[in-house]
Amino acid sequence: MEKNLFIKDISPGDRVDSMFVVEHPSLMSGKKGKYITCTLTDATGSLPCKVWGTGQDEQVTRIYDALTAGMVYRCFGNASVFRGTMELNINDGVGYLCTPVTADHLSAEDYVYSPADAEGNKKGLFSLARSITRGPLRDFVRAALEAYPLFFEVPAARYKHHAYAGGLAEHSYEVARMAAAMADGVSGVAMDRDMVIAGAILHDIGKVASFEKQGFGFISLPAYSLVGHTTLGIQIIGRLQEQRGLPEEDFAHLLHILQSHHGEYAEVRPHSAEAWAVHFGDNASAMFHEVDEDLRETPPGEVVKGRRCGGLVFRFERPDGDPLQQEKECQGTLF
Ligand SMILES: [Fe+2]
Ligand SMILES: [Fe+2]
Repeated sequence: MEKNLFIKDISPGDRVDSMFVVEHPSLMSGKKGKYITCTLTDATGSLPCKVWGTGQDEQVTRIYDALTAGMVYRCFGNASVFRGTMELNINDGVGYLCTPVTADHLSAEDYVYSPADAEGNKKGLFSLARSITRGPLRDFVRAALEAYPLFFEVPAARYKHHAYAGGLAEHSYEVARMAAAMADGVSGVAMDRDMVIAGAILHDIGKVASFEKQGFGFISLPAYSLVGHTTLGIQIIGRLQEQRGLPEEDFAHLLHILQSHHGEYAEVRPHSAEAWAVHFGDNASAMFHEVDEDLRETPPGEVVKGRRCGGLVFRFERPDGDPLQQEKECQGTLF
């Protein structure tokens, strides 16, 4: 079977029969019994999916046990809108999910979704690292990026923001640019710009030890939930410090930035202007992407509870037209 339909071309009401990567399958229990939630992806985007089967819990559990995240499956179901978001519901097509499609001709070009500019983000990160004026700190950041090629491949998160190949590099680059802009844009605050950039680039480095490639996707490793990326990142820079020997003051500040980068939710709140700059940049990068992706699934003129940002989103009108709508008209329309 050839890949004959892409996610960008699916509209509510469509009968869908095509091949997609199945990601993040979870077994759920509801009023109507067991069902599976997962995300379908291909090169053009992602689509939430619910697998109901034909109403037997045992059948749904068997399918769930057989599903391997990151693999390609034939998905046969109906597209509909639920709470403002389009999703695919699979009922009688459930049997196709027993075995993945393993044909040799499956190509990453059809199945890997990544809006990230991988080359540009990599170049930008190294260029920012080179702008650090203190030699040992500059070398430390560069050595960290060079030691973990996965930094440029893994997503930044499972669902919420930058949840695609190359997402971690894109997010880290954004955080570094925004945190540096904050350091430049504030008057009368003695900010260590070198430390802001180093901390921003490395704040999520623990995510290189949180994901592993599987099929056309990435799965999160147990350490992601059991240890958490902050601690994993601190372990990584601790090991690097044994080889590189940063001045103690710089290493202490870097550790603090990693430890406190989640702000109010971190084990320790930021204690320096540089740590706040990284935290605000981190929050801003995540929130902008969460809201933007929620808005892409929101019809104009409707208020929807965004499934990523956790709050309400609304597509405001603009006198010069809706940029998201124009983008969709160029690429194919969801609504
Ligand atoms: Fe983080
Ligand atoms: Fe982050």
